[in-house]
Amino acid sequence: MLNGKHIILGITGSIAAYKAAMLCRLLVKEGAEVRVVMTPLAKQFITPLTMATLSKHPILVEFFNPENGEWNSHVSLGEWADLMLIAPATANTLAKMTTGIADNLLMTTYLSARAKVAVAPAMDLDMYAHVTTQQNLRTLAERGVAIIEPEAGELASGLVGKGRMAEPEEIVEQVKRILAGNNAKTLSGKRYIVTAGATIEAIDPVRFITNHSSGKMGYAIAGELAQRGAEVTLITGRTSLATPYGVKRVEVVSAEDMYNAAVEAWREADGGVMCAAVADYTPVTVADHKLKKSDDDMVIELKRTKDIAKELGAKKEGRILVGFALETDNEEANAEGKLERKNFDFVVLNSLRDKGAGFRGDTNKVTIIDREGRTEHPLMSKREVARIIVDKIESLNQ
Ligand code: PMT
Repeated sequence: MLNGKHIILGITGSIAAYKAAMLCRLLVKEGAEVRVVMTPLAKQFITPLTMATLSKHPILVEFFNPENGEWNSHVSLGEWADLMLIAPATANTLAKMTTGIADNLLMTTYLSARAKVAVAPAMDLDMYAHVTTQQNLRTLAERGVAIIEPEAGELASGLVGKGRMAEPEEIVEQVKRILAGNNAKTLSGKRYIVTAGATIEAIDPVRFITNHSSGKMGYAIAGELAQRGAEVTLITGRTSLATPYGVKRVEVVSAEDMYNAAVEAWREADGGVMCAAVADYTPVTVADHKLKKSDDDMVIELKRTKDIAKELGAKKEGRILVGFALETDNEEANAEGKLERKNFDFVVLNSLRDKGAGFRGDTNKVTIIDREGRTEHPLMSKREVARIIVDKIESLNQ
């Protein structure tokens, strides 16, 4: 799909630069012609020899060759490219891009490039979450730069959070979309709500009832909707995940809180995706002091919570509503029951019987069920599942 495409791969000084080797290899394998431009600091993280060998061309770092004075023309490089991809992009380079600081060949090439530009940020979680970095990313996105979101996970610092550069395979997928023009803001002007994560039902000030949802699946969907231009309100249970770029986050604790926030947001929404794992039962009373243990067993009386999806489905009025079904047995029949009872347009079934599916991990295996039938998908990343779901939402929008 990248046959004959000209790609400038910009590498900046981040530990994630080691992934640029695999990225370059994959781009070349897909048929792209790759020219590598490195910042001087990037050379400390990955050798020019590695990148020159993989890209099959000498790499460029300096404005001119000190041996013979030969000029490295950033202008013609910028004109040559179909895409300039900066991966990894450090906080420093993102800041320079927003302000136009032209102090290295990578930056002058960026400022000269007429091509599409994409960045794959990589940095520590606090640097990524910093208001300045987020503002810089917003500015670049407004100027048409495609942001390939970093992933959450263990970082070089040993901390865990969002900031790890997207995997090379994921970047290549996004490059294909960008070059095919499939990254257009197709949902621009649409407002979506997404519920994500687990609700927490208090028993007393210390204990609670909850479940294993990490929020990853819902956050991926919110991010994908936002990437396609939708205005997204993410109603989320407690999680340490960073808010996807461009998404409005509303934090809730209990099923009742999530119900209130979702019903409120639904008034203005064009559609919704119900991905949260919402408690079906909550304690009848919440003790205002820590319950003391005794030698006796304890019984906690539970009452039903409100069904958020059912309520939104009852007030659908032609809008798109997508539900999930998390099952352990009799999967398809149960999911079909939810499709009808909650008035969903389609249900995304994931079964805990499938390895790598459901809670916490970065992958899922889903079957999409609507009134026309079922489509089973193989195990894939939650990002890819999110893309499939949003593709289907888009097809219903037309
Ligand atoms: O967050 P992760 O760790 O990434 O895990 C993802 C996930 C497994 C939580 C997700 O893929 C998923 O399956 N979410 C739905 C979990 C669930 O509660 O399913 P359910 O079959 O019990 O509910 C059916 C539907 O009704 C769901 O859309 C649910 O959000 C919704 N619901 C349920 C109860 C309730 N009171 N209100 C609701 O809106």
